[in-house]
Amino acid sequence: MKERLLEAIFFFAEKGKHIGVKREILRARLFPFYRFVCRVLYRGGNYLYLYHVELPVTQRCNLRCKNCVFMMPYFEKPRDFQTEDLLKYEKKLFDTIDAIQIFRILGGEPFLYKNLKPIIIEALNSDKVKTVEIVTNGTILPSEDLLKTLKNPKLKIQISDYGKLSRKRDEIKTLCDDNGINCVIRGSDEKNWFDPGDLHFRGRNKKELKRQFANCGEICRNLHDGRLYFCPRAAFGTKLGIPDLESEYVDFASDKSREQLRKEIYELNQKRYLLACNYCNEGTDDYVPIPVAEQLTDEK
Ligand SMILES: C[S@@+](CC[C@H](N)C(=O)[O-])C[C@H]1O[C@@H](n2cnc3c(N)ncnc32)[C@H](O)[C@@H]1O
Ligand code: SF4
Ligand code: SF4
Repeated sequence: MKERLLEAIFFFAEKGKHIGVKREILRARLFPFYRFVCRVLYRGGNYLYLYHVELPVTQRCNLRCKNCVFMMPYFEKPRDFQTEDLLKYEKKLFDTIDAIQIFRILGGEPFLYKNLKPIIIEALNSDKVKTVEIVTNGTILPSEDLLKTLKNPKLKIQISDYGKLSRKRDEIKTLCDDNGINCVIRGSDEKNWFDPGDLHFRGRNKKELKRQFANCGEICRNLHDGRLYFCPRAAFGTKLGIPDLESEYVDFASDKSREQLRKEIYELNQKRYLLACNYCNEGTDDYVPIPVAEQLTDEK
């Protein structure tokens, strides 16, 4: 029964988009079902499931996309996270939950991070993680040293296709094909961009926030610098000015018990709105399509 439910979520979230359903609409429609299944699994079977978790390894990027949903160009002092810390948080997360469908390793630009291998291996070695994805802007070839690790049926490289900006796109794809590494190119026809807006306070009331949150339907959690946030906007935005409330993340740097962390992850996943939503366009009429990867200035 449990496996059936998880398969249904995976089917609708992953395959649904290939049968012509708009990703954003699909996500919002799926969200209540996802939340309900998570509640039944946890309350009825003490089974803690997360569909999608992202792990940024660095805040650095070699592109400067004006409307980057992670707001990467607006970090004045972007930093790489320490490998030991990333491993510690990864291990703790995998120990705490029962299953993660998709574990995404990204940045900024993940291939700028020198010590990616142990981070990837940790995720591949966890039998709680079903799929590992690495999302890249297609500008940097993975190192020779990484290739053996990347060749794993559980792993997929996803190249975001930003046209000429993704200057190594085809080289990366060929390198992957030649080395038996799963790799897909996601073009702007499949992966639309939307305007998340700047970080000003929108002044929405609770009712408006709830409606916005339901329309947003974000199912992607973000483990940023030891804190698990509800969404990337909250994770990155709190580094740039959104108030960082303890009630809106789970702290993996704390010495809380496994049971306590499980409870907090469950509660985070069941949220009905966030303070961060008041600093975000998603789920509103302002969340309009925009050109993909428009640069602030020339490439660095
Ligand atoms: C923030 S990027 C990080 C990984 C890598 N630097 C890249 O660009 O692929 C992660 C994903 O977010 C997508 N993304 C960034 N800004 C977006 C926006 N405003 N709307 C929709 N998707 C966006 C990217 O295309 C990519 O698939
Ligand atoms: S390539 Fe663009 S979208 Fe990806 S992290 Fe860098 S600035 Fe953001
Ligand atoms: S801040 Fe709120 S509206 Fe914005 S992406 Fe996160 S959950 Fe969605």
